[in-house]
Amino acid sequence: MTVLVGLDVGTTGVKAVAISPSGEVLATDEESYPLSMPHPGWAEQDPEDWWRAAEAVLARLPFDEFELGLSGQMHGLVCLDERDRVLRPAILWNDQRTGEQCAEIEARIGLERLIELTGNRALPGFTAPKLLWLRRHEPDVYARICRILLPKDYVLMRLTGEHAIDAGDASGTLLFDVRGRRWSEAVIDALEIPGEWLPSVTESTVHGGAGDQQAAALGVGVVEPGTLSVVLGTSGVVLAALPEYRAEPQARVHVFCHAVPGVWEAMGVMLNAAGALRWFRDALAPDASFEQLVGEAEEWPAGAEGLTFLPYLAGERTPHADPAARAMFEGLSLRHGRGGLVRAVLEGVAYGLRDSLELLRGLGVEAGVGRASGGGARSRLWLEIVASVLGVPLELTEVEEGSAYGAALLAGVSNGAFASAGEAVAACVRVRDRIEPNTAWAGVYDEGYARYRALYPAVKSLEER
Ligand code: XUL
Repeated sequence: MTVLVGLDVGTTGVKAVAISPSGEVLATDEESYPLSMPHPGWAEQDPEDWWRAAEAVLARLPFDEFELGLSGQMHGLVCLDERDRVLRPAILWNDQRTGEQCAEIEARIGLERLIELTGNRALPGFTAPKLLWLRRHEPDVYARICRILLPKDYVLMRLTGEHAIDAGDASGTLLFDVRGRRWSEAVIDALEIPGEWLPSVTESTVHGGAGDQQAAALGVGVVEPGTLSVVLGTSGVVLAALPEYRAEPQARVHVFCHAVPGVWEAMGVMLNAAGALRWFRDALAPDASFEQLVGEAEEWPAGAEGLTFLPYLAGERTPHADPAARAMFEGLSLRHGRGGLVRAVLEGVAYGLRDSLELLRGLGVEAGVGRASGGGARSRLWLEIVASVLGVPLELTEVEEGSAYGAALLAGVSNGAFASAGEAVAACVRVRDRIEPNTAWAGVYDEGYARYRALYPAVKSLEER
């Protein structure tokens, strides 16, 4: 039997899932690594850590032969010298140091033209602004760059020696013509970045890999419009497949190539979803398990007695595109204990996802149902809160680790076990549960969302002083 392995190079660790061609999980494994935040707003990792973890996990799999597909955290910049040696730690998707370079790119190219060329605006996590930052702040490193890669493709390079990327992950570099599904010479020239640094691009179904959001969508069966992918990972995402290319006029949501040829996707990205709960645990309740914290939140009514949490712990992408945005609890009272705070965190993340959904609706997306994945999707309460705030039922598939599972499906498509991504989904993705919005909470959450929406503009004027 062919064994298909999906390997996700994530922010907290590498995850592997081995499946049969009918989608049964044969083995799973994971190995974590640290995240380094050497300055406020910075987020870096050592690519060697990804490689060590990937090698360890692959070596532990109980199979001699398998087909491999990759997914990974998007946008991270890996700089290599002429012998493919890593020149400095990778600068990650959630790194916020490049606000100035984003402004420079939008001024140099013009915001409207940039959206016309790439479908997106310059956001600090994207790859191109990081190159400009290096050119300015670390010219010695910049001068030695011969190649750049994204995280999962660095692991691929270590495995095969190839420098390659798929159209989906390439979409998040801001150097990519998302409509034409090829590198954008116009942007590359305008930013004076040597084109020979860039890896060769193919579709995910050929490459055998995708950015983690494209892979997560595939892993829960989102290959065409109508069903949303809702991800409660470190980041929070609401993603819809688009049958044709369409950019949001102000690029408040990202428009990228999907892992399916001829299909695009629009998505809103929050920088901290399950990341916000992890922060809360680490900062305030290091001895508590996530289950315990969520259990305490369950004791609190919807709306957490007027307590609202803004989840902008590391700035925010959708909808504000503001690296300086910060988090807060608003409405604390003497009655609020730990469970109340956790409830507000779960609800604040859900409101952030609703911001993304509203923008997608503005693009004409119809959202009948969502498919949930990511670590946060293990919490029934959180799923019920998200379904209620979005007003959309959420389905759980048999396998929740969307990204690694999607990568395993791509392993099958690229190696001919499946004729197409659609066929892989039909053979392997099965819904096992459905969480309906709780109608008793709808009114409280509409009010809560209005309050949440009012907070950022109210606090922003203070932060600007
Ligand atoms: C997507 C994004 C994040 C990372 C998380 O644009 O930046 O979702 O891919 O791993």
